[in-house]
Amino acid sequence: MQLTKKLISLATLCAAVTIHSGVANAEMTEAGKMAMKAAGKIMFEQRCESCHADDPERKAYGPSLLGVVGRKAGSLEGFDYSDAMKKSGITWNLDTLRAWMADNQDFLPGTRMRHVSIHDKAEQDFLLAYINSLSKK
Ligand code: HEC
Repeated sequence: MQLTKKLISLATLCAAVTIHSGVANAEMTEAGKMAMKAAGKIMFEQRCESCHADDPERKAYGPSLLGVVGRKAGSLEGFDYSDAMKKSGITWNLDTLRAWMADNQDFLPGTRMRHVSIHDKAEQDFLLAYINSLSKK
């Protein structure tokens, strides 16, 4: 817990510095990026992992989010999506993922995913940094 707090405050600091300089991510140091991802992993474990594996081999209640950035919504083979998701026409990128985590049920009425509402921009940034890193492996 102590480490979690330290990581989150470190990542918040990095995010704040980057956001204030108005060049999100472009000038962040490697250490800053690693801190963002580490904080995002903690958020993922606490808010998403109960339903989403970051490993496609593991069966989970929700679709795997490995490689989700750039993927068409509702397109993972073998997963039983809601009609709303299948017909949504959404492609997952940093903007649509941000809107999704802020209020998924408002973003896509009819989705089967339980309501999440992560409104804090820094928390969204952490999660996005982590989810994005899952898509680059
Ligand atoms: C209670 C279980 C649950 C939790 C917690 C949860 N999800 Fe989901 N998620 C689902 C389900 C079920 C779906 C499929 C929804 C549908 O078909 O309408 C889904 C779908 C998604 C999709 C669309 C994937 C695709 O293949 O199109 C994304 C992106 C996503 N969730 C992100 C997240 C993130 C990020 C978090 C954490 C902040 C999260 N989810 C938390 C159950 C959950």
